[in-house]
Amino acid sequence: MTPERIDKLFAGLGYGSRTEARKWARAGRIMVNGVCTKDVSQKVDPALLKIDDEEPDTPGTLMILMNKPAGLVCSHSSSDGPRIYDILPDRWQKRNPPLSTVGRLDKDTTGAIIITDDTRLVHILSSPKKAVPKVYKIVVDEDISAMSDILALRFAAGTIMLENDDRPCLPAKFEPCSDHEFFLTITEGRFHQVKRMCATIGLTVDSLHRVSFAGLDTTGLDKGEFREITLDDIPQELLA
Ligand code: URA
Repeated sequence: MTPERIDKLFAGLGYGSRTEARKWARAGRIMVNGVCTKDVSQKVDPALLKIDDEEPDTPGTLMILMNKPAGLVCSHSSSDGPRIYDILPDRWQKRNPPLSTVGRLDKDTTGAIIITDDTRLVHILSSPKKAVPKVYKIVVDEDISAMSDILALRFAAGTIMLENDDRPCLPAKFEPCSDHEFFLTITEGRFHQVKRMCATIGLTVDSLHRVSFAGLDTTGLDKGEFREITLDDIPQELLA
């Protein structure tokens, strides 16, 4: 890892201010390579650093996969309602650069979302060129069992035009799973895309859950739970 000033490192990882880091060093709580240090201005490899005999919490970039619960917004602004960030550990919330979601889910949408401070990853996975697959499970208010074939064709045609957009949505894959439920795989990330696509073809969405994003699913995560992931979890062809 790149060497960094000790005080800057702890501040960036959400431990506290640089002034506080100075105080911890004076109190003998910071060690570099097993040796106590009082000089927080020295640049060190985070891998050699310890505080209170413990390695710092996730030096380097942080990547999280969350099963987003309903009722939380992906916005950074608390004035929009309770935020997805509010359920993360306090220290992670204070990191700098700050955490951001890769794309957004609506307040009432649940499911897979990546949260990271790796701006390069956010950029890559949000790029339309990468056509990142997103699989949604959709519950609609009507029985669709008799129209599965028609719906599959409509979604696959690549002709669904959303209001105020200047080009149709790319083809999407429809897979029915019960009378009122289906999976839909899309490769774009337009504003309220799934609800708007459904509305355009006459379907009203009762609930929306993202089963997977870029192949990462929420298996083993209850709503509101999250786990750290690494770049190895991301399909390598997307990172190329
Ligand atoms: N499409 C929507 O309409 N809402 C979401 O939250 C995600 C995709």
